[in-house]
Amino acid sequence: MKDAASPAPAATTTAPGTVEINGKHYTTDEWFNVSSTVLALTSRKLHLQKDHPVAITRKIIESVFPAPTYKYYNEFDPVVSTYENFDSLGFPPDHPGRARSDTYYINQHTLLRTHTSAHEAELFRARASGGYLLSADVYRRDEVDRSHYPVFHQMEGARVWDRTKVPNGDLAAAILADLDALPKHNMTVDDPNPPFHADRNPLQSAHHTPEEAAAVAAHLKRSLELMVNEIFTRAKAATSPESSEESEPLRVRWVEAYFPFTSPSWELEVWYQGAWLEVLGCGVSKQELHINAGVPEQIGWAFGIGLERIAMVLFQIPDIRLFWSRDQRFLSQFSEENQKVGRFVPFSRHPACYKDVSFWVPAAGKEAGGGRGWHANDLMEVVRDVAGDCVEDVRVVDEFVHPKTGRRSMCYRINYRSLERTLTNGETNEMHSKVVEGLVGRLGVEIR
Ligand code: DAH
Repeated sequence: MKDAASPAPAATTTAPGTVEINGKHYTTDEWFNVSSTVLALTSRKLHLQKDHPVAITRKIIESVFPAPTYKYYNEFDPVVSTYENFDSLGFPPDHPGRARSDTYYINQHTLLRTHTSAHEAELFRARASGGYLLSADVYRRDEVDRSHYPVFHQMEGARVWDRTKVPNGDLAAAILADLDALPKHNMTVDDPNPPFHADRNPLQSAHHTPEEAAAVAAHLKRSLELMVNEIFTRAKAATSPESSEESEPLRVRWVEAYFPFTSPSWELEVWYQGAWLEVLGCGVSKQELHINAGVPEQIGWAFGIGLERIAMVLFQIPDIRLFWSRDQRFLSQFSEENQKVGRFVPFSRHPACYKDVSFWVPAAGKEAGGGRGWHANDLMEVVRDVAGDCVEDVRVVDEFVHPKTGRRSMCYRINYRSLERTLTNGETNEMHSKVVEGLVGRLGVEIR
């Protein structure tokens, strides 16, 4: 538990009702649900740490979107308003992403951003460049396993054109000319769907002509294909250097998607090690975003990508907890020089220790501190608070409803395993008792 034990001057709860994050003070209220472990991580900024695999991944992506067309932003504060994170992007008031079970709130109107899209509106408003790339830490309450961590990093990118600045007013032609100037690649691209579809993936017909939207989509697709080509050519060369030359070309496919802030929208998937891997989400930005940001003359595209997921592929990193390790056996394996990627050599695997906890879920309205209903993420949070990075995963192994009383019983299996050392029986037992205590005290469960 190196992280939990280290001092975390950047984020502390100073008094009941106040919290300090990266030197700024915020007033909390009954919405506050950020644990001290997560608060401590707000100062880590792995995307800016020299030679860290998250930072190397960021730089590889930046290299595909050159300045001065693209401007880079990597220092935005993680504390944003609910307006920035949700409303400015067109999320409806009842969107599940707003739930307290899924999102870390400082107070009712302030939260730890759940995605880098929270900064789209302000960057559109700034009109500082034809495009931007933004990397940052993002926060989500989630399950515990080898690919989920309450903090991870995303990169957001966008490209805009100003319709008032286009020579002779032919916006679509200007965008297509920019597309023509982009490099080409030799990947195989499956793109079976039309650029927009009236029901599934509509054109914003009140704002864009079909030609304009098709041109934006074509520029978007080539730009992101070039990024994926760069990333996965490197990944392939790193994992099977001997076969990379004569190996098959990379294969990607475009899949229709939905995001509240783009239309039409897509996800890009890549065929990698025998399966389709979802890499990013993107689309033609909703014109309302530009209008509300005071730049109605702009039109463009945006995308978002998770950096850990890409870094795990590039460096063959098997467990997301490793990114937070301060162990030199991890950190010394990566170097920014030439943005070289290579297979991470895991240190020895320490033994797992499984412990089960079975309990009755509190009846509705009887939960400790809430009445908001049972949510597995609350249990995950208790486990993370107590045992931090000593837990590899948490899974439901049994669940039933008592036929007479109607009470719900659940059994969770917690896998205690450190990446860095062998845990003693004594300390595992102690952590597990504290987890059980936390479940009773904080969530109001009744142990069976
Ligand atoms: N913010 C989205 C997420 O976290 C990712 C995303 C999708 C970003 C589409 C975008 C976009 O800019 O256009 O899942």
